[in-house]
Amino acid sequence: MIIVTGATGKLGRRVVERLLERVPADRVGVSVRDPRKAQDLADRGVRVRQGSFDDPDSLVHAFEGAEQLLLVSLDRAGEECVAGHRTAIDAAVKAGVGRILYTSQMGASHDSHFQSCRDHARTEDLLRATGLPWTALRNGFYTSSALQFLEAARHTGDIALPADGPVTWTGHDDLAEATAVILTDEGRFEGPTPPLTGTATLDFATVAGIAAKVTGRPFTRTVVPDDAFREQMLAHGAPESLADLLLSIFAAARSGEFTAVDPTLAQLIGREPASFGALLERAWAEESPARGTAS
Ligand SMILES: NC(=O)c1ccc[n+]([C@@H]2O[C@H](COP(=O)([O-])OP(=O)(O)OC[C@H]3O[C@@H](n4cnc5c(N)ncnc54)[C@H](OP(=O)(O)O)[C@@H]3O)[C@@H](O)[C@H]2O)c1
Repeated sequence: MIIVTGATGKLGRRVVERLLERVPADRVGVSVRDPRKAQDLADRGVRVRQGSFDDPDSLVHAFEGAEQLLLVSLDRAGEECVAGHRTAIDAAVKAGVGRILYTSQMGASHDSHFQSCRDHARTEDLLRATGLPWTALRNGFYTSSALQFLEAARHTGDIALPADGPVTWTGHDDLAEATAVILTDEGRFEGPTPPLTGTATLDFATVAGIAAKVTGRPFTRTVVPDDAFREQMLAHGAPESLADLLLSIFAAARSGEFTAVDPTLAQLIGREPASFGALLERAWAEESPARGTAS
């Protein structure tokens, strides 16, 4: 069986859908916090078990019989994140899982400026130490993260963000499909994969041009000093930890940590990954149909 955690989240859900196109439903299982959110999967023959990263016994039960386990990284940062991953990895060992695949990220490194990339590096160390076969999917930076940064600009027309650097933004759908391909061709990658990326590295000045082309409206790029950005976030009620986490992304981008462009993702899915412009156009059209205009 192939067991997927985080299967009610954005990436995990897409992976399960792509898996169900490739293997019979009775070979797929999910480990989810809230099984009610996965009822439709149960109806289609997927094994649904409750599993929380805060409850080791639930994970051992949810991982039972897994030849492969896709461990979708937690939406947490720092020690809290790594501790959750440690719990899941220990549970996987206890459950006798054959191989663990883990959603790492391009730029994962102990020296990264970005907290999450340091968390991924620590988690990869934990995987290495199990002695089990393992694969770290070095996923490109989500395009959806860029779209979150652009949310205000979408309305104001000004991309007012800290100084950045080029990033190879990558779409959830392409990453999910590549993950399903790797899961159904077991052993294709040992340890970290090459960076699984889109085809273009873009800074926000370039993104302004793409947004203008997609919407037919002008977009400008204003560099906000880090301190001012932090103050703005705190004034809007964001916790300091979140402000620092986001600033660490800009620091990492300025250092060129997310500039890799690699053909592996395209090779896995058998086509060019979706472009940033196409994903931006789709997301903005879906969220406000009246606003969407084709380029
Ligand atoms: N590569 C990148 O650029 C990038 C960017 C941002 C994040 N990430 C990482 O990629 C992961 C997956 O992305 P995504 O878009 O699918 O995020 P997402 O939609 O927020 O999914 C996170 C999943 O984790 C599950 N989860 C959280 N806490 C849990 C717990 N204690 N026990 C069990 N499950 C728990 C959530 O369960 P529920 O469905 O019940 O909420 C959800 O299914 C993120 O969590 C983050 O680690 C990567």
